[in-house]
Amino acid sequence: MRFSLAPTLLLLLLVLFLFYQHHSSPNLNSNTLSSFVDATSIEPSPPPSLTMEFSSASNFTSIPSAQKKEKTRNAIEEGLAKSRAAIHEALRSKKSASENKETFVPHGAVYRNAHAFHQSHIEMEKKFKVWVYREGEIPLMHMGPMNSIYSIEGQFMDEIERRMSPFAASHPEEAHTFLIPVSVANVVHYLYRPLVTYSREELHNVFLDYVHLVAHKYPYWNRSLGADHFFVSCHDWAPDVSGSNPEMLKNMIRVLCNANTSEGFMPQRDVSIPEINIPGGHLGPPRLSSSSGHDRPILAFFAGGSHGYIRKILLKHWKDKDEEVQVHEYLPKNQDYFKLMSKARFCLCPSGYEVASPRIVASINLGCVPVIISDHYALPFSDVLDWSKFTIHIPSEKIPEIKTILKNVSWRRYSVLQRRVMQVQRHFVINRPSQPFDMLRMLLHSVWLRRLNIRLQL
Ligand SMILES: *[C@@H]1O[C@H](CO)[C@@H](O)[C@H](O)[C@H]1NC(C)=O
Ligand SMILES: *[C@@H]1O[C@H](CO)[C@@H](O)[C@H](O)[C@H]1NC(C)=O
Ligand SMILES: *[C@@H]1O[C@H](CO)[C@@H](O)[C@H](O)[C@H]1NC(C)=O
Ligand SMILES: *[C@@H]1O[C@H](CO)[C@@H](O)[C@H](O)[C@H]1NC(C)=O
Repeated sequence: MRFSLAPTLLLLLLVLFLFYQHHSSPNLNSNTLSSFVDATSIEPSPPPSLTMEFSSASNFTSIPSAQKKEKTRNAIEEGLAKSRAAIHEALRSKKSASENKETFVPHGAVYRNAHAFHQSHIEMEKKFKVWVYREGEIPLMHMGPMNSIYSIEGQFMDEIERRMSPFAASHPEEAHTFLIPVSVANVVHYLYRPLVTYSREELHNVFLDYVHLVAHKYPYWNRSLGADHFFVSCHDWAPDVSGSNPEMLKNMIRVLCNANTSEGFMPQRDVSIPEINIPGGHLGPPRLSSSSGHDRPILAFFAGGSHGYIRKILLKHWKDKDEEVQVHEYLPKNQDYFKLMSKARFCLCPSGYEVASPRIVASINLGCVPVIISDHYALPFSDVLDWSKFTIHIPSEKIPEIKTILKNVSWRRYSVLQRRVMQVQRHFVINRPSQPFDMLRMLLHSVWLRRLNIRLQL
């Protein structure tokens, strides 16, 4: 009796758990790690938009090299199937494989499912290979800005191309995904100088020429219709590359800072990455001693220009008006921006001209609880991280209530939030070479999840 009931009960619990996972997500984004892996291995077929029917463009079964290629491809798809199964096992048993040598094991409420994430990360470290197309020349391709607010673009490209990255495939046949190494930030920087036009035509031409080139030269784009191809950019204009040929580019994974869901960002296909402002000669904002709430006399802090509609509302309501909610348009010269953030309990992170803000990464690094003031923003790494557990989200229409909302957070709840901010710090730092679970690995892991979600037909 007991034994026959147990599996049913377990199944019921799993179903309830998955249901909960899907329905407890914050209003910002409903994407979860489990939904990715589910799409392929629990259900018989992946969701239509991501199903890739592999049209037999290479029916050359009599040519040995083609046979060999097919073998390699079979091995790749089988490897992915094994990874999906291992992640499912971790989801089911709430245990991840412990055979790895990593010292860090994700745990706690900040993760949507810590075990599945851990297992998925292990699988990625074991297998994931990215082919970077060799065509094209610097500075428009194969490099990007290494400093300032678009730097994640250059840092990622530099990491995968120039540092003997273990994730760089040595041959395209062994790759799971393909990087289109065009830097939107550099295209804008070099081809739109002086800036006399906002027309995206030049950007469209450069991007589409590159895709056409590799799609004609190699079989990889056509066989997946671009679904295992990605590009990485933090520039505001990056989502616009799709406009060059919406039909051809509709499956491509777009890894973007500008993740505005009301401008076509699709969490199932695209990846949201953090904007990080890297000063010259460093790898990120300072990580001053992260004092606990007791050493943070300022309730809330913001300093920044009146960029975009959300900041306009914020400044209108709060600029230089309140002792506790400190909102400045320009910080007085004798004040240290980062020091003030480290003295604040909450750091306001409103959208600017675009949804992303480098303040989120700075707050997390300084142990200040981010208050995300945005509409339609798909937050970074949301497949894995549950942002509602370590940040406060305030939609733009509630800006007048900022003080009421923040004062209403009990000391106990604040301490929990702040402790969790410290827990997620490791995902918001850049290391070179990159290390497990850091920001560049989280970026790769997001692409890995999307690749797991498609199955090239064999
Ligand atoms: C490719 O192979 C399949 C199955 O063997 C066959 O039905 C199809 O006609 C072939 N296509 C071409 C273009 O030869
Ligand atoms: C891929 O498809 C395009 C458009 O159908 C075609 O022009 C191109 O030659 C194909 N590429 C390869 C490598 O077959
Ligand atoms: C997000 O997209 C919508 C629709 O285009 C736009 O109105 C809004 O301003 C965008 N958000 C930001 C912060 O730019
Ligand atoms: C204050 O907090 C309580 C409990 O956390 C919550 O139910 C209530 O809606 C909050 N009020 C405001 C104005 O945020």
